[in-house]
Amino acid sequence: MKKTLIAGNWKMYKTPTESINFVNQLIKNLKKFEDRDVLICVPFTSLWPVSQIIKDSPLKLGAQNVFFENEGAFTGEISPLMLKDIGVEYVICGHSERRNIFGETDEIINKKVKKVAEMGMKPILCVGEKLKEREEGETFEVVENQIRKCLDGFKSIENLVIAYEPVWAIGTGKTALPQQAEEVHIFIREIIAEIYNKEVSENLTILYGGSVKPENIDQLMKEKNIDGVLVGGACLKIDSFIRIINYRTNESSL
Ligand code: PGA
Repeated sequence: MKKTLIAGNWKMYKTPTESINFVNQLIKNLKKFEDRDVLICVPFTSLWPVSQIIKDSPLKLGAQNVFFENEGAFTGEISPLMLKDIGVEYVICGHSERRNIFGETDEIINKKVKKVAEMGMKPILCVGEKLKEREEGETFEVVENQIRKCLDGFKSIENLVIAYEPVWAIGTGKTALPQQAEEVHIFIREIIAEIYNKEVSENLTILYGGSVKPENIDQLMKEKNIDGVLVGGACLKIDSFIRIINYRTNESSL
């Protein structure tokens, strides 16, 4: 049975000291779930201290970026080998902020996704259209292109997670309607079935991201093809992240 994945992307928030305090609080408030995993993708500087605190907890650890070589003269970069050694399980690849602010291309993201999987970690590949592209009816074309290019030659599909994050919904407070997200998720499954096969596509975890918050999590999680969420702003406060983790799709599920 595929588990739901609730992932928090801290972005460039929280010092190591703040991270330790936050994660200690989070663990205290976390219930045990059979049906969902909880992941926190923290800044590089917090990975090691957080890895030490979560050892006996159900929390999983993720990084927000990585370089695609294990070592070398790459000043300022962090390698998959370094992340693996810390105990990182997931790595976000190709977040729209990496694409749009730091100029990451599909080709670079493709190398990252492959390297992360080769090192035995799970890439979370982010895809999604900009506002103008949605308005011009190019959503499916953009998403298909990103997926095909970023997964070119990628084989360890069982380790892959895809996050559909419409750029116009990230940090804007504008969430995609559950049905809008669902239709893109269905489309992503079709593309994956075409590139790989139907079974792979059905087993793939597809997250929705973009202004997920306590007020909309229950509705989003009711959609059949939304297997979890990637949460930015709303994962930085204990109460709102806990409410998102404790989402309910019917009255009796808590
Ligand atoms: P947001 O960010 O929840 O603050 O919109 C989501 C993301 O960028 O992953």
